[in-house]
Amino acid sequence: MFGKKKESPQIDKEQLELIQNAQKRIKQKKRLYIHFVLFLIGSLFLILANTVLEIGKNFTLFGKEWFLFAILIWLFFFIYHIFNVFVTHKFMGKVWEQKQLDKLMVQQKLRIEQLKNELKKEAPHIAESEHYNESLNKKEKTSELTVIVAAAENNAIGKDNKLIWHLSDDLKRFKSLTNGHHIIMGRKTFESFPKPLPNRTHIVITRQSDYKAPEGVIVVNSLEDAISAAKSDPQPFIIGGGEIYKQALLIADKIELTRVHENFEADAFFPEIDTSTWKETSNTLHSKDENHNYEFSFLTYERK
Ligand SMILES: NC(=O)c1ccc[n+]([C@@H]2O[C@H](COP(=O)([O-])OP(=O)(O)OC[C@H]3O[C@@H](n4cnc5c(N)ncnc54)[C@H](OP(=O)(O)O)[C@@H]3O)[C@@H](O)[C@H]2O)c1
Repeated sequence: MFGKKKESPQIDKEQLELIQNAQKRIKQKKRLYIHFVLFLIGSLFLILANTVLEIGKNFTLFGKEWFLFAILIWLFFFIYHIFNVFVTHKFMGKVWEQKQLDKLMVQQKLRIEQLKNELKKEAPHIAESEHYNESLNKKEKTSELTVIVAAAENNAIGKDNKLIWHLSDDLKRFKSLTNGHHIIMGRKTFESFPKPLPNRTHIVITRQSDYKAPEGVIVVNSLEDAISAAKSDPQPFIIGGGEIYKQALLIADKIELTRVHENFEADAFFPEIDTSTWKETSNTLHSKDENHNYEFSFLTYERK
């Protein structure tokens, strides 16, 4: 009366479906195997029929025995059979195909959700990473790194750590262009100033690790560091001297050049402007007068 209820094996629907599909696949593969054996026997029979039994002995196509074409046609059907079993799974039927697609889509959606969650967790670390910041800087590069220089016809810019000429309108132009901006310079140029220039943020490049500069002057050990120290500025200026110009010209976006139309003896020089890289966008001549001992031109170059 209170005997144990007989337990029937519990297989869920999905497992049952998997078993049925697996059985179908086994059947398909068996049929393919049988097809293969039949193909081999059939081909042998066709060859023997023609060569031994001499069936259709005189019938040829393009100079070849007919059995060759019969075997080739059969081979084509056999390959088609393989393709359907292993590539398209055609013999499993439309319903099976649809189910596979649905399953695949569900799996993809789950994977996408999983990746989204992982990304949310990783996002703060990624934002902090150096690589991310580098690529962000590249993408958002809106600043215009500008070289500003006064150079003679022979590219002379200075001698004994001093400027060679005094051109008041050029100094005025330098003042108005750089006013309120970051000015990046080599240690020697910085030391050529009696004191830091007003209303500009000075960035001094030196290889010395213990270089002392007045308060407010930023000291860095490379041009790259100087540029990143000025990254809040939409137009940082490279103001010299010769060593720094040489390095900066490779990465600058713009040159504001005052070309003094004379040749001078010097120990510091501006590099030659390569016109295949730079295009002149502005050129204004300033004549010699009572305040200016030399004729000069204000030129602007932009990177091509
Ligand atoms: N005509 C103009 O428009 C103009 C403008 C500016 C200057 N100038 C003239 O140019 C002359 C000075 O030019 P200069 O070529 O002799 O010197 P500079 O370029 O002003 O300074 C050279 C110094 O910068 C530092 N430096 C250079 N490359 C560096 C790097 N990659 N990493 C770290 N530090 C680096 C080194 O400092 P440490 O030795 O401390 O390591 C080096 O000795 C002066 O005569 C000046 O009057 C002319």
